[in-house]
Amino acid sequence: MPISYFQCSQCGAKFSPEQVTYTCPACGGNLDTHLTFEENPAEVTQAEIIQSRHHSIWRYAPLLPVADPKFEHTPLHRVGFTPVYQPERLRSKLGLRQLFVKDESFNPSQSFKDRASAIVIARAIEKNIVTTITASTGNAGAAMACMAASVGKRAIILAPESAPPAKIAQLLTFGAEVALVEGNYDDACRLSLTASHEFGWYNRNTGYNPFTVEGKKTAGLEIWEQVIRFLPPEQKLTVFIPVGDGNILSGIAKGFIDLLALGWIDQLPRLVGVQAEGSAAIYNAFINNKEFIDPVHAQTVADSICVDFPGDGFRALKRVRESGGFFMTVNDDEILAAIPALGSVGLFVEPAAATAYAGLVKALENELIDPESTVLVMATGSGLKDVEAAMRAVSLAPVIEPKLSDLKEVFGV
Ligand SMILES: Cc1ncc(COP(=O)(O)O)c(C=O)c1O
Ligand SMILES: [Zn+2]
Repeated sequence: MPISYFQCSQCGAKFSPEQVTYTCPACGGNLDTHLTFEENPAEVTQAEIIQSRHHSIWRYAPLLPVADPKFEHTPLHRVGFTPVYQPERLRSKLGLRQLFVKDESFNPSQSFKDRASAIVIARAIEKNIVTTITASTGNAGAAMACMAASVGKRAIILAPESAPPAKIAQLLTFGAEVALVEGNYDDACRLSLTASHEFGWYNRNTGYNPFTVEGKKTAGLEIWEQVIRFLPPEQKLTVFIPVGDGNILSGIAKGFIDLLALGWIDQLPRLVGVQAEGSAAIYNAFINNKEFIDPVHAQTVADSICVDFPGDGFRALKRVRESGGFFMTVNDDEILAAIPALGSVGLFVEPAAATAYAGLVKALENELIDPESTVLVMATGSGLKDVEAAMRAVSLAPVIEPKLSDLKEVFGV
């Protein structure tokens, strides 16, 4: 679907597709992409999407700013259309009306980030770009490395030195060119911007590249296809999303905004952004009624959402307010406790992904949401990404001699 224009999410300035690549030249704000279907929504039908043979983000090709690159039978073509579960035991334990959990570990590199990376790589294919670069806490880089590998593109990844080993192993295994930056994610971001400016490498940085939101909006489109279209119209969905840079939240919101423009939904779902207490720059702005965000010195067990200055914070704040939702925080103990809670119904998540569920637990405890709500929790990444954190969240198994008597003692039989 052709791009009609880009519009700055901060100052509102509009640009033709030829005028801009990354952020707003006037104020530096992140750009929203407007596609031609907005002028003629009848151009796209629900039937062509629902009947698509692709069980991936490519079923939404008519709503995407890039063409399907047709790399079928590669990981690039298997991103998205992740399962949505209804864990009944958790729902009844929480006393909630209805609970859905969307499991993003089904993506090829086991996190939500494949959605953005697939679209950025599809754009690189369209524009004959050879080299892409991204800064990443780990998952965006693993996703980019995976997508680049599946189509034979060059990926350069800058990650903080402290990234969990599994994420670094993924980057290296996918054959990306990797440098671990002394410092944090924000330092890696700054370096990647300078490098892409100096060397002309195509930069995928979260929020900075407008196609990241366009990739992530596919989760919003899926939530409509898998959940919202089956709900009675008066039953508004509340979506809990873990937030670091705020780009996953902005992306899911963009999916809903597009659906509203198409007339396929008549109200925006409510968005709840959950940040770690130690990395709460956007929450701080929300709670203090500010429009702009002040950086923090971030520290949390949830490495994927550990961000000093969120790259898409301004827009995420705006989207949460438009949706009638809110931001909240959870502490590291609450995040770790959510890992075995989701584990108890068969989901294995990394700390950042557990953050959204921890938020739901706390929101119900503190009466921030009504138990009569219908809630979807985004489980954004696999527990295999950070096994050390998972081990901190559970009690260790006893080591026994291979004797029945030892077994009896341990299990009290
Ligand atoms: C697993 C996981 N969850 C949540 C997030 C947060 O997304 P964002 O930084 O766009 O807010 C990330 C980002 O890296 C992630 O990898
Ligand atoms: Zn602007």
